[in-house]
Amino acid sequence: MDNDILKVLISEEEIHKIVHRLGKEIEEDYRGKDLVVVGILRGSVVFMTDLIREIDLHLDIDFMDVSSYGDGMESTGIVKILKDLEESIKGRHVLIVEDIVDTGRTVKHLQGLLEYREAASIEVCTFLDKPTRREISGLEVKYVGTEVPNEFVVGYGLDFSQKYRNLPYVGILKPEIYE
Ligand code: IMP
Ligand code: MG
Repeated sequence: MDNDILKVLISEEEIHKIVHRLGKEIEEDYRGKDLVVVGILRGSVVFMTDLIREIDLHLDIDFMDVSSYGDGMESTGIVKILKDLEESIKGRHVLIVEDIVDTGRTVKHLQGLLEYREAASIEVCTFLDKPTRREISGLEVKYVGTEVPNEFVVGYGLDFSQKYRNLPYVGILKPEIYE
């Protein structure tokens, strides 16, 4: 897999530091609260499993699967719920965990949906943020691991056509792989 990578953007060591910092911030903010960490399948899985082990609190995990991209690289603007939560979130504090916020459409849609279910609070934690790509104004993302430039990145859960999710670092794919 390394051969398909043009450049490493975030090393394993840097990832560990980022995830540790986010986990401790979340731990402070949610102490004494009924926390449900909601991972958005499948991209957030690698990040989320590391993140929850940095949060020394009682918490529940749950997952949602939404599709907005298909196998391509451009957002279709259509967000479909493929798998819903198993547990009720009524009156509970929800932390949505994403791999990356790009246009912001996915997160915007999820926030609306979960607010309607009467959660006590809804915040977003994303490992990566591509702010230059944002199409939704005023989107609140409380916890951001790090910003990345407007390049297509893979690894640490992020895929290209479902591959490269298991790369332990984040990198930019060589153009010949997707052209
Ligand atoms: P948004 O709705 O445009 O914010 O899209 C967010 C989703 O697009 C993420 O959860 C990713 O699955 C996908 N995505 C956006 N940018 C990238 C990227 O650079 N690499 C891999 N997936 C990406
Ligand atoms: Mg995704």
